Amino acid sequence: MHRELVYRLSMVLALVGSAAESSLGQTASTSPVKAKTAAEAYQNVQVLKDIPADQLVPAMQFITYSLGVECSYCHVEGALEKDEKKPKQTARKMMQMMAGINRDNFESKQMVTCNSCHRGSPRPISIPMIADAPLIPVSESARGDEASVANAPPAEQIIEKYVDALGGAAALAKISTRQVKGTINVSGRNLPIEILTKVGAKQLTVIHLPNGDSLTAYDGTSGWTAAPNRPVRDIPSVEVASAQPEVDLRLPLDMKQLFSEIKPLAPETIGNRQTYVVAGMNSGELAAKFYFDKDTGYLLRILRYTKSPLGRNPTQIDYADYRSQDGLKIPFQLTIARPNSRLIVQIEDAKFNVPVDDAKFTRPASEPTPDRHSP
Ligand code: HEC
Ligand code: HEC
Repeated sequence: MHRELVYRLSMVLALVGSAAESSLGQTASTSPVKAKTAAEAYQNVQVLKDIPADQLVPAMQFITYSLGVECSYCHVEGALEKDEKKPKQTARKMMQMMAGINRDNFESKQMVTCNSCHRGSPRPISIPMIADAPLIPVSESARGDEASVANAPPAEQIIEKYVDALGGAAALAKISTRQVKGTINVSGRNLPIEILTKVGAKQLTVIHLPNGDSLTAYDGTSGWTAAPNRPVRDIPSVEVASAQPEVDLRLPLDMKQLFSEIKPLAPETIGNRQTYVVAGMNSGELAAKFYFDKDTGYLLRILRYTKSPLGRNPTQIDYADYRSQDGLKIPFQLTIARPNSRLIVQIEDAKFNVPVDDAKFTRPASEPTPDRHSP
């Protein structure tokens, strides 16, 4: 049971599959592997050999999401380097095929990915489906999209409305820390959670598991995770970069610094709410989408993408139940979703500007003691 919880959490928060734990051991966790290539850090990487070692697991997650399988579909548990399973051998060929398609047709841009064909299944479907409702020809809706982008207000205006809805720029600028406590629902169980955030993109999330604490931390430039009976691990740098908006306490004031460009996209509907959508672009590529309620101005969703060598992994955070606290509004419910998981955080108590020592966010050298890390 504890193992299952730790596994679920690690898939969502720690971003490392449990299968990786046993055999990665010391190689990938306790030594800084960022500078190494995948071939140097792992035992049997042939196709992805030149990628930075810390991008291998994000690439594996991309495969897992695209095919709708678990790590064990291809891997022998506890011996990830082994090539015994046929799907693993097929996957290598598929990586080469995919690189070839993109090289020959798309100037090596990541246009065709595993998901282009697989779409959540190990067996792609080659015959068009007959669905209950006939297909709407795409040309029509695409034209509609262009027209609605033209009607959307400028991104700056949407963000300004959000700032006002939260309590105003002056009030936001005064926040230096935020401490929230509540519960997180993991595999149907409610566990106590505390999230401590500080300006400078610092955040520590502590989940109290029956057998100890699970920690996820960002210290401004890098990130790490720890869980009971597990070594401390680095969060891949691509994931740290992508998580920036989530850990930024003054997000709406910092939007322009976080992205090279922000621009409106076509409005979308989430549930029964009409939203304006703002894109955060980096180097001409869509890095994140922000969905703002047309009426209230609140941020309802962040959909952000983590780059990997095979394609981009999406993370979606939904914000709901906005309440007042010290003259500011704060969402009391968060839903964190990835293609194969969903966690709901219900906040019960929020405080601003509690003094917090930077040491809380620093990667511990060895196993952390619960005392030092409970906010
Ligand atoms: C569809 C098949 C497939 C799935 C699913 C998959 N992998 Fe892999 N994995 C591979 C292939 C193929 C390689 C070797 C890549 C290469 O040679 O470039 C590999 C290599 C690895 C390695 C390097 C092992 C070594 O020492 O050589 C690790 C670690 C790894 N995968 C972890 C994972 C994790 C964790 C998951 C689940 C999140 C996962 N994989 C899911 C196909 C898969
Ligand atoms: C251009 C389309 C396309 C792309 C891109 C693609 N695949 Fe495939 N893949 C297929 C087809 C078609 C099959 C054969 C399915 C069958 O036998 O029914 C297949 C089969 C597989 C299988 C064997 C499944 C099984 O259990 O029989 C694996 C594993 C696989 N692909 C992994 C990948 C991975 C990983 C990627 C991305 C690196 C990828 N594929 C990209 C089309 C694609």
